[in-house]
Amino acid sequence: MDKVCIQGGVSLNGTVEISGAKNACMAMMAAALLTDEVCTLRNVPQLRDVAFFVQLLQSLGVSVQNPEPHTWQLQAKNITHEAAYDLVRQMRASVCIMGPLIGRLHQVIMPLPGGCVIGNRPIDLHLNGFKALGCSIDNQSGNLHVKAKHLKGNSIYLGGRFGSTVTGTANVLMAAVLTPGVTVIDCAACEPEIVDLCTLLQQMGASIEGVGSPTLTIRGTDHLKGFDYTVIGDRIEAGTFVLAGLITQGTLHIKGFQTQHLNALWHLLDNIHADISIHEAEGSVDVKPCLDRLTPFETTTLPYPGYPTDLQAQLCVLGLCIPGISLITERIYPQRFMHLPELQRLGGQTWLEGSTAILKGGTPLSGAEVMASDLRASAALYLAGLIASGTTSIHRVYHVDRGYERFDKKLQALGAHIQRMDEG
Ligand code: EPU
Repeated sequence: MDKVCIQGGVSLNGTVEISGAKNACMAMMAAALLTDEVCTLRNVPQLRDVAFFVQLLQSLGVSVQNPEPHTWQLQAKNITHEAAYDLVRQMRASVCIMGPLIGRLHQVIMPLPGGCVIGNRPIDLHLNGFKALGCSIDNQSGNLHVKAKHLKGNSIYLGGRFGSTVTGTANVLMAAVLTPGVTVIDCAACEPEIVDLCTLLQQMGASIEGVGSPTLTIRGTDHLKGFDYTVIGDRIEAGTFVLAGLITQGTLHIKGFQTQHLNALWHLLDNIHADISIHEAEGSVDVKPCLDRLTPFETTTLPYPGYPTDLQAQLCVLGLCIPGISLITERIYPQRFMHLPELQRLGGQTWLEGSTAILKGGTPLSGAEVMASDLRASAALYLAGLIASGTTSIHRVYHVDRGYERFDKKLQALGAHIQRMDEG
């Protein structure tokens, strides 16, 4: 297992190119299961989660080629409906093979994915959607056996305690595009990754109305074509670099994503007087040194277009840099605060009150040994390490490789002092 050592105190400067969106491309790769034609996906980030997903698709019988970096060609000619537990347990996003397999084969055997460190992550809303389309679902020894004699369009509500569900929307949508009749999904997720998936499905020949809104109307078809599609830039990676630029007082040009996907972040940064320039037409943003003038903030994570939960941990680090009290309330995963005790090890003054992080900023951080617990917590620890005096060693750093392409290398190119080594 690798760890990284970061020598803090260096500001980041230069240009960084954002990779394709991890959370868009999992469902898009699963969409290849909807057809026996060749599907080409471009701008796919080189990530551990993508590698897992490719393995999962291969285990289902999909033939896979990687003709050039970031491009995958998938063809699902002779596929099986049974997913292996060993692969599924490694990645929750595996569940998004269910919808396409139901649509195409009318059955799937799917091991329940199990626990997750960021909180309880049920899939009840996905399953309610499949049932509404005509599926019967049985849990046999931890494996969900889903079968449909006759799929039929229906009205489906995907709202839960914490809002809609992103992979649930993707899943039900992908089942519905091959389901006869009209399906109306209410309280669908509006995340840009869902919009991108809808656009890809439309390229395959699917009829979907209301794209980007909470009501999607799908007219099912019995045949979908292959696709050649380029994944959008990763808004969460872009936001992570914006926050890294601000806390290290650097001058950064961040490009290769759609700036309107981060309006909630721009709104927050505007309120606290950050010096950033957004270039919507070019898909880039400039960050300038301005930490001295930033004021404390209060925000809440919400489904899109609210402030994203996937940028909550990184924002905690900004809060620790601004003198005064900042508050961040988590409304998607109320327990997603594993990074706080680790930030405390670096000297960060943080408390947790229910699902609100209280951050007392202004005390300099100093390097320590810390443990990464999940993807976004790891990114937050990298950011904290960049500003802590001395050396910060981050253990279990493989989490970051799941969702940030060449994170060490991108940061090093901007001036960060980062060394990766084997724990042993
Ligand atoms: N929920 C339910 N029932 C369900 C599904 C979800 O109660 O059937 C709850 C969840 O427990 C959570 C909330 O609804 O409280 C939202 O969950 P959602 O289903 O939207 O999350 P997800 O689709 O499993 C995706 C991203 C996550 C991101 C969330 C929220 C992928 C592969 N993952 O997860 O990304 O945090 O949406 O935006 O798209 C990450 O990138 O680090 C990450 C965890």
